[in-house]
Amino acid sequence: MIRIAPSILSADFADLGRELAAVSAAGADWAHVDVMDGVFVPNITVGIPVVKSLRKATELPLDVHLMITNPHRYVGQFADAGAHMVTVHLESETAADISRSLDTIRSHGALAGISIKPDTRAEAVFPWLDRVDMVLIMTVEPGFGGQSLIPHTLDKVKAVRAEAERRGLELMVEVDGGVNARTARACTEAGADVLVAGSAVFGAENRAAAIAALRAGV
Ligand code: DX5
Ligand code: ZN
Repeated sequence: MIRIAPSILSADFADLGRELAAVSAAGADWAHVDVMDGVFVPNITVGIPVVKSLRKATELPLDVHLMITNPHRYVGQFADAGAHMVTVHLESETAADISRSLDTIRSHGALAGISIKPDTRAEAVFPWLDRVDMVLIMTVEPGFGGQSLIPHTLDKVKAVRAEAERRGLELMVEVDGGVNARTARACTEAGADVLVAGSAVFGAENRAAAIAALRAGV
């Protein structure tokens, strides 16, 4: 099953409830929420109160992507705010704190994800594969929507998918950045089964047509 997760980063932040209703009606599977702290990435977006409000505004599972330093301090609160999935970056804290983050996410009832940036090797997540529900491979440098997919990152999708299969692990592999109707197939062929799309969906006049085009592309 391929899931489509529109990223609210490219939505109208003054009208998120309506934006999410539109993509939900248009067949989105999840809503992807990019949390940025201005330190881990050079941009600032939204935090726990917004996730709490979105939880009330939509039925869509909230896929919360934390681009923040020391996420272990906050993951429990994001899960309690109603996140379905909470994903932390491997590069954002020590291994001991990553371990704590993953345990906390699950003990607060959410699914746990781990993400790597384009310059981090795929093998770096291998030790964590049996501790997570999803690996998020960043296909652009995190921080901004509207960038082009970096082709070599799809080799890492293949490597993670192959390692998960070798070990018999049920794992979702998500791609994030530069995913559109033209790049979607390369992503799913590499082994991705969750496609985040910001500008390809919210940048389009017709969200339903944009999601349909993504699905047709895979
Ligand atoms: C970037 C974010 C992405 C972003 C993707 O740091 O993690 O989720 O919204 O945007 P597009 O789909 O426009 O590349
Ligand atoms: Zn994201």
